[in-house]
Amino acid sequence: MSVKTVSQIRIEFTRKADVKNSHFFVDDAPLGVFTTLPPHHNRRIEQPTASMSALGYLFYPLLFVLLAVTGPVLFGAFAIASPFVFSAAAFLTPIVLVISHILKHRQPYKVPPYKRAEANDSRSPCPGLNVLANHNILPHNGKDISQERLNTALKVYNLGPDVRALLVNLLWKKLNLQKNQGFALSQLSETHNSIEHDASLTREDLDIGNNVVLNHDLYKRFIKSSSNGKQITIEDFIQYKKQRQSESRDQNPKFTFGANQLVGASSEAIIVSSVFGSTLGGLPVEVAKSVFREERIPEGWIRPLLPITFAQLAAPMAWVAARTYFY
Ligand code: HEM
Repeated sequence: MSVKTVSQIRIEFTRKADVKNSHFFVDDAPLGVFTTLPPHHNRRIEQPTASMSALGYLFYPLLFVLLAVTGPVLFGAFAIASPFVFSAAAFLTPIVLVISHILKHRQPYKVPPYKRAEANDSRSPCPGLNVLANHNILPHNGKDISQERLNTALKVYNLGPDVRALLVNLLWKKLNLQKNQGFALSQLSETHNSIEHDASLTREDLDIGNNVVLNHDLYKRFIKSSSNGKQITIEDFIQYKKQRQSESRDQNPKFTFGANQLVGASSEAIIVSSVFGSTLGGLPVEVAKSVFREERIPEGWIRPLLPITFAQLAAPMAWVAARTYFY
């Protein structure tokens, strides 16, 4: 018996199918070609022609050839164009971000009315937070402040999301609060040596005086620390802080000033300068008077245009910490 190839069988089969008006029944199928169909199957099935089958066999080789030819061409075009595309994107993205930020902040911030704290209002050793409460940006009574409320209030200072997240989470951790609990500003004085610390600019140490309210003698010395009478520069901050640290060490038997306190105290000087003055330039004296004595947003304050992030704060903070390490 002669052995037939599959295409021979197909061609033979096509001829048979022609006789039956181009259709065939399964029973007519030669053994080994369509036997996978069930025997009761009597639906009409389109008969594949020889040319169609040949195309089927060629499909994958043709696809391979197509990809082999077009692939390098496409890849080459991409390789040539990509440096231009990527450098244009790298150049344009920061510009677009800055412009969109400026457009968003082009309206001057309308400062809510100021009202001094009253007897029952809760206040903290932090002038930055007291200012927000005095302008009702935080609750004026300084109580029951949620994470969301604090975070939203800190946006007024245009602190970046990284700085806000760190401050808010640090506070909740140190006060041992659940996420949905609120805090009162006066609780900050209970964070001694974790956030609140000795040798403050304008507050006495916990163990020798009142660590919450402004001490007028310290305040006057802080204002006088300005070397040119106009600006409390970062260098003025450094010299005054060193004095405060050395006198606290001498007067306070429980004086504590390790790495945590050093970093915390340095960051306060840089944050307050960044928000109300300038990160590298410090605070104008008149601005310092408004923020520290009245705990009020200074007249004519312009909200920082760009968000204050750690990228901006880290190096100046480290500089102040390094310079005040020895005193
Ligand atoms: C969640 C955010 C904040 C928390 C939990 C916080 C907490 C504190 C605490 C506990 C102190 C007392 C430290 C000490 O014993 O001297 C303090 C001081 C200070 N804070 Fe804040 N603060 C926050 C945000 C701010 C902001 C946004 C600013 C500036 C705009 C600021 C400026 C200051 C300054 C200048 C001091 C030093 C006061 C002094 O030494 O007399 N703080 N802060």
